Amino acid sequence: MNPVKPGETPRTPWIVGVSGASGTPYAAAVLRGLLAAGESVDLVVSRAARLTLLDETGISFRDGHWRDDLRAWLSRGADGKPGTFDADVARVRYWSAGDLAAGPSSGSYPTKGMLIVPASTACVAGVALGLSKDLLQRAASVTLKEGRRLVVAVRETPLSGQTLRQLVALDEAGAVVLPASPAFYAGATHIQDLVDFVAGRVLDAAGVRHRLYRRWEGELGGRTRGAGPS
Ligand SMILES: Cc1cc2nc3c(=O)[nH]c(=O)nc-3n(C[C@H](O)[C@H](O)[C@H](O)COP(=O)(O)O)c2cc1C
Repeated sequence: MNPVKPGETPRTPWIVGVSGASGTPYAAAVLRGLLAAGESVDLVVSRAARLTLLDETGISFRDGHWRDDLRAWLSRGADGKPGTFDADVARVRYWSAGDLAAGPSSGSYPTKGMLIVPASTACVAGVALGLSKDLLQRAASVTLKEGRRLVVAVRETPLSGQTLRQLVALDEAGAVVLPASPAFYAGATHIQDLVDFVAGRVLDAAGVRHRLYRRWEGELGGRTRGAGPS
């Protein structure tokens, strides 16, 4: 039975996969950007990402209390200060990474695509090889096989030849490989500006409108004129 009533738009979320690379502020900024744009989100947090989240924010992410933990996480600025942002998580659906029967594990579950932010090299390898060792990797494989947008914001340095080859494989499979690599031309003065630049580029790759960073307008020196991101 189709639960969508006539005239009703079916919920078509972006899947956001958070893997265990450093960079949980990037994920928070992408999640806030999607929600601010009116998008729905299906969230998957890998087991290793719970460790990076704990390390980088002090938050223990619990399946049973995910709403409270997500709200606390999204309220933090990149400097770790709680209460910096106001986040309404009503449009977020959370799936446990071990739940291989979850919606995003099937191609018949409607989604707009998937953003992996940040992506660990282990996650890159798993998706490139189609391992599907957890829901995050399975959802990424499904996204590729269904021909939907997959953005992989890899965070590691330096990169081994093995990871570079796996990134090429992902590119060839149709994914957007987007290194979490902040730029300085947009007038950054705080850590949050650098984080928002990367998050904004992820949203650009997904075609989601945002105002996270100031775009290049073809003129050198904009940064020194003191105009902050608008
Ligand atoms: C504090 C911390 C930081 C880490 N940072 C990175 C990183 O920046 N990039 C990376 O590829 N792996 C990093 N790792 C290692 C991954 O967490 C590890 O490879 C894990 O198996 C990834 O699993 P997942 O892809 O299922 O999340 C880090 C681990 C910890 C504990």
